[in-house]
Parts: sequence; C-alpha cells; structure tokens
Amino acid sequence: MSSIAAVVLAAGAGTRMKSAKPKVMHEVGGRPMISHLLGTVGELDPKKIVVVTSPNMETVQKEVAPAEIAVQKEALGTGHAVVAALDNLKGFEGDVLILYGDTPLIEAETLRQMIEKRRASESCAVVVLGFEPDDPLEYGRLVTDASGNLTAIVEFADANAEERAVGLCNSGVMAINGAHLADLIRAVDNKNAKGEYYLTDIVEIAIKNGLTCAYVKGEEEELLGVNNRSQLAEAEGIAQTRWRAAAKAEGATLIDPETVWFSHDTKLGRDVVIEPGVFFGPGVTVGDNVRIKAYSHLEGTTIGDAAQIGPFARLRPGADIASEVKIGNFVEVKKSQIETGAKVSHLSYIGDARIGAEANIGAGTITSYYEGYDKFKTDIGAGAFIGSNTALVAPVKVGDGAIIGAGSTVSKDVAADALGIERAEEKQKPGWAKRFRDVKKKAKK
Ligand code: UD1
Ligand code: MG
Repeated sequence: MSSIAAVVLAAGAGTRMKSAKPKVMHEVGGRPMISHLLGTVGELDPKKIVVVTSPNMETVQKEVAPAEIAVQKEALGTGHAVVAALDNLKGFEGDVLILYGDTPLIEAETLRQMIEKRRASESCAVVVLGFEPDDPLEYGRLVTDASGNLTAIVEFADANAEERAVGLCNSGVMAINGAHLADLIRAVDNKNAKGEYYLTDIVEIAIKNGLTCAYVKGEEEELLGVNNRSQLAEAEGIAQTRWRAAAKAEGATLIDPETVWFSHDTKLGRDVVIEPGVFFGPGVTVGDNVRIKAYSHLEGTTIGDAAQIGPFARLRPGADIASEVKIGNFVEVKKSQIETGAKVSHLSYIGDARIGAEANIGAGTITSYYEGYDKFKTDIGAGAFIGSNTALVAPVKVGDGAIIGAGSTVSKDVAADALGIERAEEKQKPGWAKRFRDVKKKAKK
C-alpha cells in the first residue's frame, strides 16, 4: 500500500480520565495506547506518521519518536488538530489516515479496507470507519441517505432525538484523499454545541463541494474509544482476550485463561502451562515446557526450557532463569543469573547474584547486596549447597561444590568444596526447661 500518511490526534486534554498524565499515555497491557496505535499503523508502511500533541506533552513526544510531531497550541477540537498537521503533509499526494490516539485496538486489516474503499472511486473524498456498539453512548452518529451513502456525521451533543436513535457510530478513523484534505479541513467552523472545530464536519463539506463520502463498518471490539477509566479497563479486557486466545493458539495451556494477565510483548514457547492468577509485566520470554504455577508475578525476565516457577514466585527485571531451574514458593529474584538446573525452592530473596548450575539454595536464603548506597554481587558456584536461613553479605563468593551451614551470615569468600559456617557456640542446660515450668506453675497457684 504505497503513499499513505497517518495523522494521529493526541492533543486533547483527556479531562474525563481525571489524570495528571496525557490520556494517550495510559497503558493497555503495559504499553501506552498511542504506541499500540503506532504499531498497527506501522504495518501499512506509511510514508510518514504525524502525531498531533499539545505544547506541554513531552512524554508523548518522546514515546512516539521517530514519528513527526505537530503541535496544536490549544485543544480547540479534532478538526483544529488536523489543521495543525497540514504543514507536515505539504507536498504529500496520497491518502491520509486520521486516527485518534484514544482508540488503540484498531487492526491493520480494517485500515487497509478503508484505503481500498477510498481508492475505489475517484470522487470519494472521505471514508469513515463506522461501528454499531451495543450501547452507542456519546459517540458521533453516521447519517446516511436512502441508498445508504454517508451524508453527515452528527456529534452527540448536537444530535436531535431522531439522530441519537441511530445505532451506526463514528469510530473517529477516516481515510481522506490527500488532494482534498487541506481545503476540506480549512472550511470547518466551530458553530456547534461544544464550540469546537469538529473533524467530523468534513463529510458534509465534501458533499457540498460535489465530492462523495462512504463508510466501512468495523467491529466494536477494535473501535472502543477510551475517554474514561471504565473504557480503559474495557480496552484492557479486550486486549487480554486477544492475547489469551493467541497464547492458546500457539500451544500454551491456560488452566483458567480469564485469570492470566499478559503484557503486550509476552513471548511463550510451546507446551507452557500457566496456572491461575499469573501476571506478566513487560519483557517476559518463556521457553518450552515451562510450568508457571499459580499466583506468580513476572516482569523483565527470561525463562529457559522446562523450568518450574512458583507458586507465588516473583521474578523481577533482570532475572535470567536457565533451563530446568526450579524457583519455588515465595521466592523473589532480581537481576540475577540462575544457571541450569539450580534450585531456589522456598522463601528466598536473590538479587544481583549468579547461582551456578545445579546449586541448591536452602529456604530463607537472602543475598544482602545493598547497604543503602552501592550494590554488590554475590557469586555462588556450580553445585554449591547453601543451608537454610543463610545471609550472603555481598560482595561475596561461594566456590563450586561448597556447603554453607544453615543459619550462617557469610561475608567472606568460601573456597570450592569447603564448608563455610558462622554460628555462635551452641549450649545446652540439662533440665532447665522443666525447672522453668515448675517455677512458673508455682507462682500461678
Ligand atoms: C470523537 C468524535 C466522535 C467519535 C469519537 C470516537 C469528533 C468531533 N468527535 O469524539 O464523533 O464518535 O471520537 O471515539 O471528532 N484531540 C486533539 N485535539 C483536540 C481535540 C481532540 O488532538 O483539540 C484528540 C484527542 O487527544 C483524542 C481524539 O482527538 O485522541 C478524540 O478526541 P475526544 O475528545 O476523545 O473526542 P470524542 O469526544 O471521543
Ligand atoms: Mg474520544
């Protein structure tokens, strides 16, 4: 599809989100809405993408790089926002897709259909993407004539009862013949209920100019516009349903799919089993034959083949889990390499560490790597055995095959195959417990 430009509107205040952050930066599956949209638009290989932002939206401008930025000084309406992008489109002759940054779930195939429809007729200036939501809410309505041609879009605030009864709604997405765009958009005024320059008015303007307009119908699922937190949660739900379906289609077993939450970039191997209540943050890659047990929380982690994770495990950024590793219940791992076949089975915190192959880390082991200023590394050799309730005070090394006695605080390096043990002398006082009880019982009488 040659000669497409895309303009993405993102300058609106997003008042209904009640947020300090720009609406389009709110995330679906751990990724800002605007980036979902740019990813989809990118599939059409557009000549250029222009994102319209307000002057103070540095976070959005940074997020969308290398897209071009057009600044709309004041948010005076969607039509006004498109005017702000006209300079960037100077000299561009193809078709212009207009998208709203708050409609993140649209699919590339739908956009292709719109471009095709636009190109099917020379006189067709605008193709609008319509949809029939279960509840048309405050979406703009598409007005059609007796033969089904699009004649106008009426905003909800300006619609009469008859127009509000129309079920066919405006998704906001348009494909516009670039040759007419500037003339059409400059003719838009703000004489309406909201006093805004409505992009949607270009349909009537095109028809007055002897051009035609058409619409394509899309699915509600992909056209949900996010204006408030309820709709944000709805968008999240739709995206999750898609990702769960894709995971199953690619050979993962989800025991209770509705309770598993993916990130936009989660990568799963074959024959992965995911138990209920598992949450994936961004940046997780899982190998083949891995089982992720119930209620585990994972982000920024790579898991090798046949590893077992959880239940109730927490894998944080930089947790690099090799194949056949076992990470058990209530274990937290951060920025550490856990090498092939190592086991960290219970109640441990491993950070800034390397755990060698086949090493066994006993229950309650803690790497103490941070004294409030600097972070230090713990290095555990292959086949080492760390007894329960050990504190490893970094920087510290435990050699291959060494054993650490339970309850030790290890702050000196331990040689390979040595026993490292740090304990106060154990004492025993025969009969002491009985005498203690006797004294207490007497005092009670
Ligand atoms: C808009 C449409 C409505 C459609 C709905 C679909 C208009 C006039 N109305 O209404 O027909 O049913 O979307 O979701 O177009 N924006 C700017 N600058 C502005 C105003 C808005 O860049 O001055 C951006 C916003 O950031 C947003 C998008 O345009 O990404 C849509 O604006 P919004 O205020 O959400 O319009 P709706 O009321 O949803
Ligand atoms: Mg909106």
